Amino acid sequence: MLTPQVVITHLISPPAEPMLREAGFAVVARHDETPPPRPEVLRMIAGASAVLTVLSVKVDDEFLAAAGPGLRIVANYAVGFDNIDVAACRRRGVRASNTPGVLTEATADIAWSLILSAARRVIEGDRLVRTGQWQGWRPTELLGLELSGATLGIIGAGRIGCATARRSSGFNMRVVYSHPRDVPELDGPLAARRVELDELLQTSDIVSLHVPYRPENRHMLDARRLALLRDGALLINTARGSLIDEAALVRELSTGRIRAGLDVYEFEPRLSPGLTELPNVVLLPHLGSATHATRRAMARLAAENIIAVLSGREPLTPIA
Ligand code: DGY
Repeated sequence: MLTPQVVITHLISPPAEPMLREAGFAVVARHDETPPPRPEVLRMIAGASAVLTVLSVKVDDEFLAAAGPGLRIVANYAVGFDNIDVAACRRRGVRASNTPGVLTEATADIAWSLILSAARRVIEGDRLVRTGQWQGWRPTELLGLELSGATLGIIGAGRIGCATARRSSGFNMRVVYSHPRDVPELDGPLAARRVELDELLQTSDIVSLHVPYRPENRHMLDARRLALLRDGALLINTARGSLIDEAALVRELSTGRIRAGLDVYEFEPRLSPGLTELPNVVLLPHLGSATHATRRAMARLAAENIIAVLSGREPLTPIA
């Protein structure tokens, strides 16, 4: 029998590659983290039994056809899997997996990095000092939002939403959340209240998005809903860019009425025109899971999913 071939489309954290080699597979790993052109991806995966890939690679019918009938699993190096056509995988009997759980805390940390940076205008302050424009302490310079006593609105109380809410307990904040059902983890320890999305937008000082992207929630924050945000509110997005109508957000930010902290973008890595010129938004390059420990844990989990399927077992964290 031929040794199963595993393709890793991008340079990722150890230990995925050695784990897969030790399991006895023929590993073809691209040691480059820049996104490969599509034809290169399709060439690379031809004949693979398993592919470990990242969120910028579209796993659709074309991808699955290019891999060929021997493909048994696609392991996504991310918890979000909007890049994967799950129905197409199912139709062809290809398993697919993601990396839930291991990046929860790191992503909640980056949400809080954005909350604190946007609330206290950290980046604007750094720029002022760095550019030599700071002229000493001033009574009204770069005044920000006081977190103590503020209301944090969590949209989507899954693992990351809950971890982000939990971190508010040291800040003396109220928590509200929108979610399809009550979440005892928030209701009990945080005395949080479940509310409708529009009410959350109208009553929160800080709104943090934590829902997975699905076509039905594209632009769930559209121009109408963005207009519901309170004056001076902060909007934080560490989930997926397409949850917000980014052009509408640029218009709302341009009024100076609200502030934002973004880790993800609708047309990643491109940003909507005007966004980078605005002082009232903090912009990060999709760093949610970017810690050494988390990326290693993601690599390990992705490799474990591949090893399980190629050994005839169920994937640990299946999405198809
Ligand atoms: C994810 O896992 O979905 C993040 O966006 C990248 O780690």
